[in-house]
Amino acid sequence: MAKLKELLKNRLSADEVNKIKYSYDIIGDIAVINDLPWGMKSKAKLIAEAIKNTHKRLKVIAKKVGPTSGEERIRPVKVVLGEKRTETIHIENGFRFKLDINKVYFSPRLGAEHLRIINQIKPYEEVYDLFAGVGPFAIPAAKKAKKVIAIDINPAACNYLKENALLNKVSDKIEIYCCDCRKVIEKEKFYNCADRVIMNLPMHAGEFLDVAFKVAKKGAIIHCYFFLHEKDMFKLAEDKLYNEAKKAGREVKILEERKCGQLSPRIWRCVIDFEVLN
Ligand SMILES: C[S@@+](CC[C@H](N)C(=O)[O-])C[C@H]1O[C@@H](n2cnc3c(N)ncnc32)[C@H](O)[C@@H]1O
Repeated sequence: MAKLKELLKNRLSADEVNKIKYSYDIIGDIAVINDLPWGMKSKAKLIAEAIKNTHKRLKVIAKKVGPTSGEERIRPVKVVLGEKRTETIHIENGFRFKLDINKVYFSPRLGAEHLRIINQIKPYEEVYDLFAGVGPFAIPAAKKAKKVIAIDINPAACNYLKENALLNKVSDKIEIYCCDCRKVIEKEKFYNCADRVIMNLPMHAGEFLDVAFKVAKKGAIIHCYFFLHEKDMFKLAEDKLYNEAKKAGREVKILEERKCGQLSPRIWRCVIDFEVLN
């Protein structure tokens, strides 16, 4: 991804350029400028123009106006240049995702991680995506797997998920539930039926491991995401995992632990892939 620093070196002072810590994301035809350092907020329009001039296909330049928050994990943005809209279609791993960046969670930085999981899915699998969002795991999974159960608590995400299932012609392979995943698994009695469980809610996924253990069959693979500090990377998450497994009477084997993105200077989005052995 091109860096703002490079784009702006002829338009801002060297000192101002040095203050720019983070870059921007491109989602469909929208660029979102991430946190600008204090004192640089008034330069948002100048930065937006530089970005727009560099990527001719961009129609909207927005800036982040608050942190990612709430159980829907929404990052509020405001349009600073171009068309006054926040809905777009983003293409990732050959699939099309319609979404409104002000109504749902989506990060274009997770494309490689989405693909890493998708590549592991086998045709016989029943895949449960407990925090599906607009479907960047669930939609491609439905192309490959026997069946996908996709759950999200945010009605806007569920509406886009349905639309994206149609857009990508996988509606016949995906069941969508708009509710708390814990309630769905209980109500539908989805017990011991998943070959694979995806849990991309790093802030709270550990609190839903009991749900994952209910839905997972023997031999299931679970991908559980966490935000972890560099200091004790994986230790706390492993402790939580082994503790929850013990409570559920399940044995687990960790297959892989990896970082898949940086949240802030010392905090990383991490994933633990593990197998349920019994
Ligand atoms: C970090 S986003 C991940 C979305 C998607 N899997 C992705 O990779 O882009 C987490 C999603 O979980 C949803 N969510 C939060 N709590 C939930 C719950 N208890 N049950 C179901 N979905 C939930 C949010 O609405 C959000 O869309």
